[in-house]
Amino acid sequence: MINRRTWIQKSLLASSITLMGGGASFASINSSKKTLDTKSNNALRLNWNENPYGPSASAKEAMMKAMHHCNHYPDDVVNQLKEKLATKHKLQSNQVMLTAGSTEVLSLLGQHVGLNQGEILIPWPSFPTMIRFGERCGATVRKVDLNKDTIDLENVMKAISWKTQLIFICNPNNPTSTELDKKDLISFCRTVPSNVLICVDEAYIEYSKHGMEGSMVSLVDELPNLVICRTFSKAYGLAGLRIGYAMSNTTNIDALRNRHTGWELSAGIVPLQAAMATMDDQAFLDHCVEENRLGRSIVYDAFQTWGIETSNSATNFIYARSEKLDHQIVDKLRKENILITKWPDMTDHIRISIGTLQDMQRFVDAAQKYVIS
Ligand SMILES: Cc1ncc(COP(=O)(O)O)c(C=O)c1O
Repeated sequence: MINRRTWIQKSLLASSITLMGGGASFASINSSKKTLDTKSNNALRLNWNENPYGPSASAKEAMMKAMHHCNHYPDDVVNQLKEKLATKHKLQSNQVMLTAGSTEVLSLLGQHVGLNQGEILIPWPSFPTMIRFGERCGATVRKVDLNKDTIDLENVMKAISWKTQLIFICNPNNPTSTELDKKDLISFCRTVPSNVLICVDEAYIEYSKHGMEGSMVSLVDELPNLVICRTFSKAYGLAGLRIGYAMSNTTNIDALRNRHTGWELSAGIVPLQAAMATMDDQAFLDHCVEENRLGRSIVYDAFQTWGIETSNSATNFIYARSEKLDHQIVDKLRKENILITKWPDMTDHIRISIGTLQDMQRFVDAAQKYVIS
């Protein structure tokens, strides 16, 4: 016989199991086995596309000042940052939504399609966060193969069906690191039917050859179905502060805000002030982009000598073919405290984030041992 107390305990347990379901998180896939102390001084984290130069001195100073105001809700600072971003991108502040990292924007869009039982089109491989959230909420996902590591816009266009509710375009693309031609992407966005949302994820745009010139933000006023997402986690060096944003027309922004559990207050005063300070610090951004270019060339030079093919990176990571490398290179480097990425779908490739110049020399020295001659 089950008494009332046991019954309540059992149902609570059952409901917590239901809440816990849902598969692997991005963090669990990306961070590999838990045993390694990846935060120790010696661990080389070339697996998260972090910026080794952040946070900037200007951000640190702003954070110290902001600490004194942590007793206040951040509403006024949210508005200030939105104004600042809107001015920078020639938009109105109600066309901008702030989130705790752009992950939140991707999850909200994925959930939106899932709850409408719709379909997401995604060039593949690409950044999986949106489809993970979408699938969990009921979305179907259709993957469109890349063409030589680059998004094939023609094939994506052909794949659109009456079920398609959202197209995810990561530009530059993670994990393949390539960027699209701006004119091609503009014409693609203009041709997609206006009842299909397009999310252009520009997490790495600052690193691209054309810099922010390659952005689709100038189309936001023209196209009602376009959502751009950006982050302060990469070139701005603030990944640990969790701050990102969406830009779109006011109808879409209002819809996203209505679904956002944090009411647009999920980034606190400290990250918000750090973001504002870093936005004004062009010298820091330029430095990070230039050092990243130099770090990339250390790896390119070595890979070229070893005959390892790479794609043309517009980002702070390199996507390389792995046939000429020991197939256990990821695990072997891990044992040397060097972390690189191989997602389950990346059968023939590895992805290496760019650290400091010394970091990249350490990576090259270690990787050399695993080249198959
Ligand atoms: C393409 C892309 N989009 C979004 C994100 C999420 O970044 P965050 O939530 O830190 O803004 C990442 C993180 O690696 C990414 O690579």
